[in-house]
Parts: sequence; structure tokens; C-alpha cells
Amino acid sequence: MDKNDTGPTPAPATVDPAPPCTLVIFGASGDLTKRLLMPALYNLAAGKLLSDGFTIIGVDHNDNDDAGWRRDLTETMQSFTQDHTSEFHPDHIDETAWGFIRDRLGFRKGDFSDSATFRDLAGALDGNVVFYLAVSARFFGPIVEQLGTAGLLKQADGAYRRVVIEKPFGSDLASAKALNARILAQGDETQFFRIDHFLGKETVQSILAIRFANGMLEPVWRAEYIDNIAITAAETIGVEARGAFYEPTGALRDMVPNHLFQLLCMVGMEMPETLEAEEIRDRKADLVKAIRPIPPGDAVRGQYAAGTEQGRAVIAYRDEPNVARDSRTETYVGLKLTIDTPRWQGVPFYLRTGKRMTDRVTEIAVTFKVPARSPFQANQESEIAPDILRLRIDPEQGMSVAMNVKRPGPQTHLGRVTATFDYGDFFRETPSVGYETLLYDCMTGDATLFQRADSIEAAWAAVEPLLQAWRDAPVEFYSAGSDGPAEAEALLARDGRAWLPLGEG
Ligand code: BG6
Repeated sequence: MDKNDTGPTPAPATVDPAPPCTLVIFGASGDLTKRLLMPALYNLAAGKLLSDGFTIIGVDHNDNDDAGWRRDLTETMQSFTQDHTSEFHPDHIDETAWGFIRDRLGFRKGDFSDSATFRDLAGALDGNVVFYLAVSARFFGPIVEQLGTAGLLKQADGAYRRVVIEKPFGSDLASAKALNARILAQGDETQFFRIDHFLGKETVQSILAIRFANGMLEPVWRAEYIDNIAITAAETIGVEARGAFYEPTGALRDMVPNHLFQLLCMVGMEMPETLEAEEIRDRKADLVKAIRPIPPGDAVRGQYAAGTEQGRAVIAYRDEPNVARDSRTETYVGLKLTIDTPRWQGVPFYLRTGKRMTDRVTEIAVTFKVPARSPFQANQESEIAPDILRLRIDPEQGMSVAMNVKRPGPQTHLGRVTATFDYGDFFRETPSVGYETLLYDCMTGDATLFQRADSIEAAWAAVEPLLQAWRDAPVEFYSAGSDGPAEAEALLARDGRAWLPLGEG
């Protein structure tokens, strides 16, 4: 596609800064705060999306003070300019934008389970507050209870009190229900913003536009025309320093009911009547509730053995730090699921995610049915190949369509072509680590991109049969740097289908 075909891309409408608020970050000294929240706030400041009345209070159990925290974060921000592996690697740190954030940072030493921490905060806070729980999941419930007990979640005089909760939200259906009940005893559903950072990705948000703003796609997005949909989130990195977290978690809990189901919702939900938050969240909840509980026979779990990553030898998962030598935790999941709605009758959805795979690819591949009748079938040696639309989420951002054309020449033979577009060719990229929109939306009260209690519980319910069956089940092995275990290939071969090779688009 040629960008000139569409004419110049109109400049975006001006966006107002978020109303004044205090952002209280629990886990101020943690990785998430340094790697993602500060860069996102910096980008928001650079875009003039924060008001003068914005302040940040960091809470953590280590010794520090305002000056020390400001110094630490300034150093980390500067270090990103040298670190090309980080999600955020600007050429330089703009002094005005960083100065705006730095001068608003205040640190409080505090234990998350000590009521004194919350009493102190209550004395310091006024007006709009967003509490961001950038902490280990075991603190979610206790912190929200402490906030409630200290009266910090009471909304009065038009001021809001909101809580952002990171994933993982529960580790199975029972724990997710218990956590929902625990937090909802302290506040209203509208006050809780359960985050899934995949929804901060522009390419994910764009799926609804691709589906519902294009007359050539909207009518065919259904079982009558679609053969199957495959969702992939493949990574080349291993478990890194996260063995202690990953061992009891595994790829299923880490990626499937949250990130992959968010992609599934975007691609599978019914059309919302409006773009209102509750309308979109209702349609997404309908979709998750329509996922049939996944039979264990329709899923494969794998674990990476030693292999290579970009030509470099890498160790097996079992040899990673903080991982048991006989661990049966999965680092790969491949599964088939069905969605019980009229739109998707008979259409299988294949989902796979894994670490240490051939390539880093997050994408959705929509394979269309071949035409029921075609004059080309008669004079071709091979069958007509199905059209495949690939929505590329990460790291490539765009779309490709593989389709059939007539091969030039005197004979009428079909040839296969791929048309692609990249967002970067059409739109000026705004710097983003993926948390900007999420933070801004929380401050402005737009819950569209956050997960509601019912959706989260329905997602856990869908994977519950796997959690049960995999407690004592063995794990299949795949070499680091491959496309996953052979059993995952067999899962699709059973249906006469195959995963698309990674990295081929
Ligand atoms: C996180 C998982 O939520 O998402 C990680 O805990 C995973 O294990 C990451 O690597 C993937 O996110 P992204 O945006 O890098 O594709």
C-alpha cells in the first residue's frame, strides 16, 4: 500500500491535560516504577498531558528521602539513553519534561502492612488520588484493605479516589473471586482499574477500528468467511531474573487469561453500539463468558531446554536461577478454544505463547475460507491458498494480507502476494512505553482499557480445567530458539491446520 493513496494523515486533535491529582505509587523503588511508570510519566509531561497540580508520592519499605529518590530516578532515566534493550531508549532526556516530574516526586518510607503508613498518607492527601499498586500480587488485597480502613478510598466533594492494580489478578478462579470480593468491600467497582498492559498498545486498540470502521472487513468477520484465528505472543527472551515469580506462575497464568484473552476479545467481540467504556467492557465480558472451558486435550504445555538465541548458546529453563532442577512449570502454552456465539460457530481459535522461541512476534492471524466456488480451482495444480490477514501487534506494528493474484505470463496460474502496511509509514510515532494512555485514562476516569471483575473471573473460569489438569502433568520440552514443542504442531495437524512459522510475515 502506498501512503500517498490516503492523502496526508490529519494532525491529532489537541488533548487536554488530566485534572490535577496525586499519584501514590506503592513499590516506589521497584522495577516497574523505574522501567515503565517514570518513562510513561515523562512522556506524558513532554506531551503536556499532566496539569500543574500533579504530584507523585512514592512509598516503599527501603530507606530513602525525596532528594535520594529524585537522584535515583534521574540516574535511571539517564541510563536509558545508553540502554538499547530497554523499552524506553531516547537519545537524551529532555530537562523540561523530566524536571516537571522530578520536582514533583516525594518519597515516604513505609511498610505496606503497617496501618501507620496509611494514617500518615491520609494526613498528606487531599483531592483526587490515584493509588498505583506496583507491588507483588500478595500485597494487592492487604493494601486495598489498609486504604479502606484509613478512609483513603472515600470520595467526597467531587474528588476521586482510584486504585490501579497490576497483574496477576489472582492465580485461579477462586483466588480472583476472593480478591475481587476483598477489594470491592472497600470501594466501588468504578474505583478499581485492573491493568493489562497489552491494552496500552496502540496496535491492540486499533483492532476495533480495523474491524468496525472498514466496510470491506466488518461484514466478513464471522464464521461464514473465517476458517480460524491464531493468536501468537512469542518471545525470544527466557525467564531472566524472574525465576522466583515464574516458577509458581508459568506461561498459562502469566499470559493467557490476561494478555492473550485481551487480544481474543478485541478480535472476537460483538460490535459495541458506541465507544463508551461500559459498552465496550460489556461486549468484551460477553465474549470471555462465551469461551467454552478449555478441555485439557486441546492444550499443550512446553518448557524450553537448552538451545540458541540469535546464534548464542542459552541454558535450559531448569538451569535458570531460582528454578527447580526438576521444574514442571511451563514456559510455552499452545491451545485451541471455541467461542460459543453465533458469530464464531465452528471457528477454532488457536493461542500460543512462549519464551525462548525463534522470534519475537505478537500477532493475530485471521485465515479466511477459500471461496466456495471458483473457476480457478479447475485449472490449478494446487488448491487455492486461503487469504491470511495478519494484525501485527509487536514489535512490527501494522498489517499484512497474503492473497492470490494471477501470476504474470500467458498461462493462468495463481501467484501468492503479500500486501503490508506499517503504522510508522503513515503516522508520526508518539514516544510511548505503553503505560501513557493507561495512566492518563485512569486520571481522567476512562475505564475502557481496564478489566472489569466479571471479565477477569470469566477468563479464569475458561482456563480452570487446564490449571486443574496441569497440577501433576508432565511438560513437553522444546529447544530454546525453536517454534515450540512438536506436540503443539500435532494439536493443529489434528485439525488439518498448522501454525504459521514465526517471523515470516
Ligand atoms: C508480562 C509478563 O505481563 O508481559 C512477561 O509477565 C512477558 O512474562 C510480558 O514477557 C510480555 O509483554 P510485552 O509487552 O513485552 O509483549
